Amino acid sequence: MITVNDLQFEKFIPAEEIQQCVASVAAKINHDYAGRVPVLIGILNGAFVFAADLVRQLTIEHEIHFAKFSSYEGTETTGNVKELIGLNMDLSGRDVIIVEDIIDTGTTMYDLLPRIRQMGVNSVELCTMLLKPGKLQVPLDIKYCAKEIPNAFILGYGLDYDNLGRGYKDIYVVKS
Ligand code: IMP
Ligand code: MG
Repeated sequence: MITVNDLQFEKFIPAEEIQQCVASVAAKINHDYAGRVPVLIGILNGAFVFAADLVRQLTIEHEIHFAKFSSYEGTETTGNVKELIGLNMDLSGRDVIIVEDIIDTGTTMYDLLPRIRQMGVNSVELCTMLLKPGKLQVPLDIKYCAKEIPNAFILGYGLDYDNLGRGYKDIYVVKS
């Protein structure tokens, strides 16, 4: 068990299972994008760990970039999606894969997708490490999802609680 600020967390997904999830998503991408050079866009800050593990399991040529687009404060989403920072490369004609740590209400991705499509891409797909299906509030077509989880708040493996806890190799869930 670990304590971060005022909350206690217990181990939820061990590092070995996470790596198996990453490998299975990478295998699908290797298959689906064979012969193409997709542009992966990791959404900072949370996706940096997942993105780093994912690209090291890719056998196809690819580019990886990062953008920042956060709407999260504390343990609840604020609902106000903010500006996207850092996405200034030319994406026209490219096959884009958005790489997220977790999709919760889905509002961040719902807001981001049309912005990416407006950039004249050939295709855009979502790839998330985790999904909370019970919290999804918008229609989202999520092509790659490593693991579905219940509604509880989690941290570790890039995910934070008030910017703490991103470095844990395992994923933890808040104790109820
Ligand atoms: P959404 O827009 O509600 O889907 O929120 C997505 C973002 O909220 C993710 O990229 C995470 O950064 C953050 N988030 C959602 N659920 C959690 C959680 O359980 N722990 C930590 N961060 C989370
Ligand atoms: Mg995030």
